[in-house]
Amino acid sequence: MKDVISIRDFTRDDMEKVLKNAHVMEGYMHGTDILEEKILATLFFEPSTRTRLSFESAMKRLGGKVIGFSESGSSSVAKGESLQDTIRTAEQYSDIIVIRHPKDGAARAAAEVASIPVINAGDGANQHPTQTLLDLYTIKKELGKIDGLTIGLMGDLKYGRTVHSLVYALSWYSVDLQFLSPPGLELPVYIKEHLSEKSVKFTEISRMEDINVDVLYVTRIQKERFPDIEEYEKVKGSYCITLESLDYIKKAIILHPLPRVDEISPEIDRTPNALYFRQARNGVPVRMGLLASLLGWNQ
Ligand code: NCD
Repeated sequence: MKDVISIRDFTRDDMEKVLKNAHVMEGYMHGTDILEEKILATLFFEPSTRTRLSFESAMKRLGGKVIGFSESGSSSVAKGESLQDTIRTAEQYSDIIVIRHPKDGAARAAAEVASIPVINAGDGANQHPTQTLLDLYTIKKELGKIDGLTIGLMGDLKYGRTVHSLVYALSWYSVDLQFLSPPGLELPVYIKEHLSEKSVKFTEISRMEDINVDVLYVTRIQKERFPDIEEYEKVKGSYCITLESLDYIKKAIILHPLPRVDEISPEIDRTPNALYFRQARNGVPVRMGLLASLLGWNQ
């Protein structure tokens, strides 16, 4: 695989290989020279904390260097440069590109013009494949398996790209899925059709009290994707996990791609259910494995 654009380009074997590489990378967290002299360009046209910092941390732990921008306003895009020209320029200065962009399909368009590997760090409401790989890695690391689990996805299932990628990935496994979202923010029909084609069992529930899962994946409402801010106001603050919610969440592990806004009360952070900061940490070995293998490393 030259690029990482969509989790739909991955088979189950491909994903398992990434998880295995991530496990190997845990042994190099203190530093190595595997990617010495290689340069990563991070082109972030949208805000990011974890994804950008963990890619940087991953590249540096591998002995490589990082260049890039974290605001399109500070690049020549502000002068009207096209995405294609920005990519053709970045590839003159680097060996691999990580891109985040507000437009669905932007990462694919970038990969089409680039002669070096391109990794999608989130394109609009479409895909966020490296987040999914670290989500799978976290589930496997914490629970020892993915097959046989019941996994709940709660929040903005319509605009959440992490949800879209994760659901496609999970459709390779033998899992039961439960979906819970505010009205109007349900999982898109085309993804539900995909689940039916792959015979994945799923239910859509409408009350938090009906959650019955091993893993609960919570997401924030993706305010910036709403075409109409009034629609956002209607659903804002409509769900929140509190200590009382543990009555039905029971021992389920709680994951969240972060950032959190108000959907998980901070008092949950102290409970053994809360794994979201550990999940964020797992972004480093997973991204180390991806960077290294795309740049030709073979263990
Ligand atoms: C997510 C994203 O950017 O899609 N964040 C992340 O990469 N961890 C989730 C979000 O913004 O809600």
